[in-house]
Amino acid sequence: MRKPLVMGNWKLNGTKDSVTALVNALVPAANDASAKADVAVCAPAVFIGMVENLAQGSKLLWGSEDCDVHTSGAYTGENSPTMLKEFGCTYAIVGHSERRDYHKESNECVAAKYKAAQENGLIPVLCVGESEQEFDAGKTMDVVKAELKAVIDLCGIESFANAVIAYEPIWAIGTGKTATPEIAQKVHSDIRAYLASFDAEVAAKVQILYGGSCNAKTAPELFSQADIDGGLVGGASLKADDFKSIIAAAVANA
Ligand code: 13P
Repeated sequence: MRKPLVMGNWKLNGTKDSVTALVNALVPAANDASAKADVAVCAPAVFIGMVENLAQGSKLLWGSEDCDVHTSGAYTGENSPTMLKEFGCTYAIVGHSERRDYHKESNECVAAKYKAAQENGLIPVLCVGESEQEFDAGKTMDVVKAELKAVIDLCGIESFANAVIAYEPIWAIGTGKTATPEIAQKVHSDIRAYLASFDAEVAAKVQILYGGSCNAKTAPELFSQADIDGGLVGGASLKADDFKSIIAAAVANA
């Protein structure tokens, strides 16, 4: 049985006050959910130390929204996996479509970040997903397989025993256009089948989250799908009540 995981991705949002209020509200919810579902927040790097202080000792897990491939050195502006680990991160998101797009991160670059995160004790959350044009052209799995294959080539299929995948159709991110549960389930099951063509045991165990306008309304039906193991949540993770409803949906489907 795969344990559901609900993860917030705060993106470029938050203030000291909002982060304090949000984490304080989520700690009891994560503690209550923990027997059935894991709850995590991925924060802008500047807030990670605060999150650590607020969530330490609770069941709320935290992570970064990206991570560099180097552990230290002359790489201005970056955050290394060892630094993130020192601040208690469990997870590092890699390959979010906003980074692939705005920062021109290639599949190979994302795979290198995944490797660096894993080698330094973080669980990489590998984001994959197609654009609207690719979706309309029926190319979803071509895109997703290429994104997965870059990681398999560099790190091996066995690396997915200690990683999370997030399927985030780009056309559903921040648009309010959630993929229907049927569309999302089909892609999740195709991802699992693709991984199973390399290693069935790893494929059966890996958590595959859905992301893209996942909110209090859409989460219950999405999470009831056989191959959807939780959500990577943007906008709705910034509001404690909405995020708590999404956590409740994961617990109900555990
Ligand atoms: P929204 O939930 O705001 O659509 O964002 C999804 C996302 O990109 C999470 O990583």
